[in-house]
Amino acid sequence: MNVPPIERVLFTEEQVSARIKEVAAEIAGRYQGRELKLIGVLKGSVFFLTALARALELPVKIDFLAISSFGGNSAGMVRIAKDLDEPIQDEDVLLVEDIVDTGLTTRYLLQTLAGRAPRSIAICTMLDRTVRRMVPVPVEFRCFEIPDRFVVGCGLDYKQLYRNLGYIAVMNPDRG
Ligand code: IMP
Repeated sequence: MNVPPIERVLFTEEQVSARIKEVAAEIAGRYQGRELKLIGVLKGSVFFLTALARALELPVKIDFLAISSFGGNSAGMVRIAKDLDEPIQDEDVLLVEDIVDTGLTTRYLLQTLAGRAPRSIAICTMLDRTVRRMVPVPVEFRCFEIPDRFVVGCGLDYKQLYRNLGYIAVMNPDRG
């Protein structure tokens, strides 16, 4: 059998889905009576965004963008490789992230989207690794804070694999 190279499960599928429901209720409370535009960042946030959208008792629209890094390292040099399909002017926007790590990607996206005159913009992330933060990012909603270990599952990949795991796990560095 092809066993994923994981060291330990951080959050089980049940824990993830229970927490997503709690966060969805928090978001619905905040945006009551309004329509929300969820913006997902391909590909990592797709699984979380879908689960969140289904748990949200609000009228939601969804759109996606894709980014690519340049400059040869992960120093936050990103550009938009696929832009949103629709404008976001005058909309309440929730940027949905799989993980906010150094914060560089999210800050870039936040600045870019804020320049398009949305009515409001906020960040919701499934995972938050604040110990590695290099720039401040205003995370309004988050499911879990995680330690400084590389994780996979629920959309997060290692070399494009393991996004489809229902749980979130720490990678085993020896078997990656
Ligand atoms: P940033 O460091 O906050 O700019 O995060 C950049 C991106 O790195 C995230 O959106 C993820 O796609 C990826 N990333 C960061 N940490 C992990 C991890 O533990 N597992 C998988 N991908 C990660």
